[in-house]
This record gives sequence, structure tokens and C-alpha cells, in this order.
Amino acid sequence: MRRTILGVFAVVCFAVSPALLSAQEKFVPNYDEAKVPAYTLPDPLVMQDGTKVTTSDVWEKSRRPELVELFAREMFGPVPANSGKLTWSVLEEDEKALEGTAHRIQIELKPDGDGGDRRFELLLYIPNQVKGPVPVFINFNFLGNHTVHPDPAIHVATWRSRDPKTGEAVVLTSEIARGDRIRRFPIEVILKRGYALATVHYQAVYPDDAKAVKIPEGSEAGAISHWAWGYSRVTDVLSQLPKIDREKIVFLGHSRLGKTALWAGANDPRAAIVISNDSGCGGASLARRQYGETVGRINDAFPHWFCGNYKKYGNDVNQLPFDAHELLSLTAPRPVYVASATEDQWADPKGEFLALLNANPVYQLYGLEGIRETEQPAPEKPISAHNGYHLRVGKHDLLEYDWVRYLDFADGYFKK
Ligand code: GCU
Repeated sequence: MRRTILGVFAVVCFAVSPALLSAQEKFVPNYDEAKVPAYTLPDPLVMQDGTKVTTSDVWEKSRRPELVELFAREMFGPVPANSGKLTWSVLEEDEKALEGTAHRIQIELKPDGDGGDRRFELLLYIPNQVKGPVPVFINFNFLGNHTVHPDPAIHVATWRSRDPKTGEAVVLTSEIARGDRIRRFPIEVILKRGYALATVHYQAVYPDDAKAVKIPEGSEAGAISHWAWGYSRVTDVLSQLPKIDREKIVFLGHSRLGKTALWAGANDPRAAIVISNDSGCGGASLARRQYGETVGRINDAFPHWFCGNYKKYGNDVNQLPFDAHELLSLTAPRPVYVASATEDQWADPKGEFLALLNANPVYQLYGLEGIRETEQPAPEKPISAHNGYHLRVGKHDLLEYDWVRYLDFADGYFKK
């Protein structure tokens, strides 16, 4: 295979940016459970004014909106509104793609409104063996649609980024990376199980560039809110396609996109299931544990992901008016699934599990059993009741092992 400089550069550039390295050098993460400080989690069922929430009705009318408002104001910034005008057109399709097993569609989206004049491409595979509308996973990708599968028809992504050495803005396009990320998108497995897959290159929606994206003080939306906006615009389109079951749309994301999926699902009731894969700090893991990546560190390294107000909490995380269990509880009564990996200590697997456990009281308001276990399960012993959790053996990644758990979980819920 011929390697172009840009092809190699695209991958390296994503793996280690110099800003990340210098911040990581100064920051020493705690990986010792004995050094986790004592903390008290905010009670999801107590309003800011001290009123107790005892019914799902009060949760939905008062406490849930209060929490969404707090997360928007103090952490992510609000998800940009959409004028409702969304222009989209099919750029390419093949009803006999992947050896006849799938209908591939590449769609250009041009949303109007606060999203500005952005344009991005959605890549969609729908299984052919199923009659009638199918459920769909939306999972954005990191390096371009053409990296998710070697299928030669997938359009090659082009995006703006920075040369890690000079810091100069460059345009990246990389044919060589075609199919490079297939391990994160086992499309044939997904299709065989009767699910469609929808993916978008996240940087086509909004740049992931701390130098280009300046976040002012206050609550203006950070990048995560913009990416969440992207999940909703994709949902707008999928909801109009007769081959897609609009009641069965799953929001899934890995890492920074796991944080995104949680926030997107909190804001968009059309997400039927929300899945966080290794989302860590700013996603599913409890900030107050300060294990692995902390709020201070994430604000230093990725200031553009969150709104300006979030910076206030870097030095005193206990002042945060919420924690990750409440972000997870915003999915209720819809199921939420959290996954961790044993070697992903940076994301604090135990903190991810504990957040899910502490979201249980909100599900109980609906008579639903979130998860039953109170101890983090052993590696590769997935658990599920209404919600689900697993700890995969291995590194920070999204692999077929994870996907199979998500497919099983979605089957259990959708096919009830
Ligand atoms: C960094 C960051 C994490 C993030 C991850 C990713 O490691 O510190 O918070 O989840 O990048 O998105 O890959």
C-alpha cells in the first residue's frame, strides 16, 4: 500500500497533539484508589432550592429541565438551535453495495439556522435482508467516512486541521486511510444483525481545534454541543427515510464522541437508547473522584470542548452543581449503556460504573430497574437490566466486542 505523507500525518496528528503532550507532562493523574478524595454526590432527586422530587411528573416538569439548563450553562453550553430548515440531498447510492448485502447512501446535509453554512456528509448502510424499517446506530467517526470501511465508493474526507510541528492550518485529505478504522465499525456484523449504521466525520460538523475555536467566558456552546447538534441533524434526515425505523434510533459515541452522545441524547428525545463508549471525564465518569483525567486537566488540554463557565470548576470540582450520574439520568426513562475498558484508566472505569449506579434513583421514579449490581462487574461480564454496563479487556477503543454487547442490548430493548 502506498503511504502518502498526509495519510500518515492525519493519523499521527490525531494521536498526539503537542498541546496535549505539554499539558500531560505537567499533569500527574491519580491512579491510586486509596487517594480518591472523600466526596458527596449531588442528589439527582433534590432541586436546587432543596425541594425533593418524588414523582416522574415532577422530574420531567421541573428537575430534568433544571439539570439540562445547569449542564448547558456550566459545562457544555446549549446545543445550537435549528431553524427547522434542513436541506439534504442524496449524492450517491447503491442498493447492491457490499456484495449486495446493503443499501449504501451518501447524503449531503446543509442545515440552516444557528448552525451557519455548514455542510457535511452522512454515510449510511442499510441491511438488505430485512423487510420493513430497521433500527439504526448513529456513531460519528474521527478521521473521515472513508476510514470506516474499505468500500471504494465512500467519498474521501477533506478537513482542516493543524500541522502538529508548525501549528499551521492545513487541509487534510487522505485516500490511504481508507478502511483504516474498520476495527471501530464492524459494518458487516452490524448489518447481519439487522441494524443500519449512520456515520459522519465529526470535524466536518465542527472543528476540533483549540487554536481556531475560541470559547468566550460564559455559556456559549463548546465543540461538544456542536457535535451533539450534528447527531440531531442526522436524526432529522434518518427520521424521513422509509427504510429507517424512527422509533429505534441509537446514539453511540466513543471517547469525546461518547461525551457528545450523552449530551446529544439528553437534548434530543428521538434517541431511543444512548450509549457511552469509554467517554471518561466530561462524559460518564464521576468528576468528583478525580481519578485519571480531571476537570482541571481537560479544561487545560481541550478548552474548546466546553463552555467558558466550566473553567471555574478546574480547581474545585466539588462546586459543580451536578456530576456525571446526573448527565446519565437525563436519558431516563430511555435506556443508557455505559462501557469501559480495563486499560483505559485515564477515563476512570470505576467512576463510569459508579455514575451509572447513581443514576438508578431517577429510573426508579419510572418503576424501572437501572442496573441491579452495586459492585463494578469483572471484565467481560456484561450486566444489564433496563440499563447496561461492561468492562472490556484492553485499551481505550471501540471494538467488535463492544458492538456485539450494544447489539444484544438493543435487541433486548427493541424486540421486547
Ligand atoms: C483525550 C482526552 C479524553 C478524550 C479522548 C478522546 O484522551 O483527554 O477526554 O475522551 O482524548 O476523545 O479520544
